[in-house]
Amino acid sequence: MISDTLSKLESLKKERNAVILAHYYQDPDIQDVADFVGDSLALAQYAVKTDADVILFCGVHFMCETAKILNPNKRVILPDMDAGCSLADSASPNKFKTWVDSHPDHAVITYINCSAKVKAVSDIICTSSNAEKIINSLPEDKKIIFAPDKYLGAFLQKKTGRDLLLWDGSCQVHEIFSERELVRLKTRNPDALVLAHPECDENILRHSDHIGSTTSIIKFASESNLEKFIIATEPGVIHQMEKESPNKTFIPLPTNDGCACNECPHMRLNTIEKMVTALETMSPEIILSEEYRLKALAPLEKMLALS
Ligand code: 13P
Ligand code: SF4
Repeated sequence: MISDTLSKLESLKKERNAVILAHYYQDPDIQDVADFVGDSLALAQYAVKTDADVILFCGVHFMCETAKILNPNKRVILPDMDAGCSLADSASPNKFKTWVDSHPDHAVITYINCSAKVKAVSDIICTSSNAEKIINSLPEDKKIIFAPDKYLGAFLQKKTGRDLLLWDGSCQVHEIFSERELVRLKTRNPDALVLAHPECDENILRHSDHIGSTTSIIKFASESNLEKFIIATEPGVIHQMEKESPNKTFIPLPTNDGCACNECPHMRLNTIEKMVTALETMSPEIILSEEYRLKALAPLEKMLALS
């Protein structure tokens, strides 16, 4: 049955001349059928280079929108239109524009986890892979708004020494990791290193040995001589880590409510079956107004040029 579904997916992919992109937070079976798996920056970069006619994007809505902004002539479809993002939703376009307009002397650096309409009122986009570099690309005396993630913003404020004006948004997955569980796990596993995503609260980051994007966490674990790691990000990343280092141990950090599986409920809406239906019906499809697409394209292109 599963192999029937997979062969259907494969033949639809050929028929449509489609490419399958997946974020590291997708289920392992989706990561394994994807043509490319990456972090937000690498996925955006890949979307620019592909010569496929159709991009089947296994990630969340803002990632698919980003692919469409960069590829107006390609059809971008996603397995489940409800795969949103709490962080992107925390910045509603109207409120965000009003806030930005009330600070005309600030440059607006916006994390890629936001809607196309929020990108459209930003000066430059960043991801967790390049945020520091992008902030440092602005003159030292330039006032900066950073949105929408207040935890990533606070982390960058510390790293760059810049005074950033922060929007009050957060990721529902990364903000509920338990510091108490982390301390307990560290005590029980004194030989383990803690690898964390900068969307986590400072109460997790202060115990971490390495902080970075999903790609950077995976790379760090694979290059390290050590054998055991506590992972403070969505546990989908562990699939690639185990593939690259089958003899190492990866312990997912539990959340405050004691759940050991801190999975992103939006990312995990996507399934192989929905991927097949999406390619069969060519829906749900990302459609953007040309006005917003062009406005959102400019800050994205600035980011890509600096990356
Ligand atoms: P990166 O993969 O770019 O580190 O982003 C993590 C994330 O939360 C995506 O929604
Ligand atoms: Fe959004 Fe958080 Fe899910 Fe990433 S993990 S897609 S930031 S809700």
